[in-house]
Amino acid sequence: MDKKRLGIILSELENIITRGIEGDVVELGCYIGTTSLFIRRILDRLDSNKSFHAYDSFAGLPAKTIEDASVIGSDFKGGELKTSKRELIRNFKKAGLQPPTIRKAWFNELKPYDLPDSIAFAFIDSDFYRSIVDSLNLVWPRLARDGVVIVDDFMRSHLPGATRAVNDFFSNKPAKVRHRSNLALICKDN
Ligand SMILES: C[S@@+](CC[C@H](N)C(=O)[O-])C[C@H]1O[C@@H](n2cnc3c(N)ncnc32)[C@H](O)[C@@H]1O
Repeated sequence: MDKKRLGIILSELENIITRGIEGDVVELGCYIGTTSLFIRRILDRLDSNKSFHAYDSFAGLPAKTIEDASVIGSDFKGGELKTSKRELIRNFKKAGLQPPTIRKAWFNELKPYDLPDSIAFAFIDSDFYRSIVDSLNLVWPRLARDGVVIVDDFMRSHLPGATRAVNDFFSNKPAKVRHRSNLALICKDN
C-alpha cells in the first residue's frame, strides 16, 4: 500500500466519521493488517464507536479466472499472500491497538449476516475478479446512505480483474464511481 493511496483511504474514512454517517467499517482482504492498523488508528483518534470487521481466507489468493489474465501480473497467483489470523492479531498487539473482529473465510462462503447490518465504509482489497465481485455482493446491499466503498487496484494493469469487476458490477446499478490513484471510490447515486 503506497502513501498516496493510504492517504486517500484514510481521508475518506475520516470524512465518513466526521459527517456522522451511520454504520460500521469492514475490510475484505486484510492480509497482515497493513491498512487495518491505520483504519483502527483513525477510529481511535476520532473516538468512533463504529465496529471494525476484517475478512480474509488467510490461505492466500484463490486461483485466477480468465478476467484476471495479465502477463505483467503473473506474480499474483493462487496461494500467494498466505498468512494467519494469529499473525494479524500479533501485529495489532505489537502496535498496542485493539484488533478488529476477524473472520477467516473465502468470500463466496460468507453469508450476509457475517457482515454488519449497516456499513458506512468498506475497503475491498482482494485483487481478483471473482473475489471483488463476491465482496461487492456482500457489501453493496448493506451500504448506508452516503457510505463509501473503496476498491483497490482499479485501473491497474497488473490486476485487470479489479477494473472489470467494478465495471461489471456497477453497470446496472445506481452508483457514482470516482477513480483516484488506482482506487475506485464508490457511493450510492441517491
Ligand atoms: C493484497 S492482499 C490485502 C492487503 C491488505 N488490505 C493490506 O493493506 O495490507 C489481498 C488479500 O485478499 C485475500 N483474498 C483474496 N481473494 C479472497 C477471497 N476470495 N476470499 C478470501 N480472501 C481473499 C488474500 O488472502 C490476501 O490476504
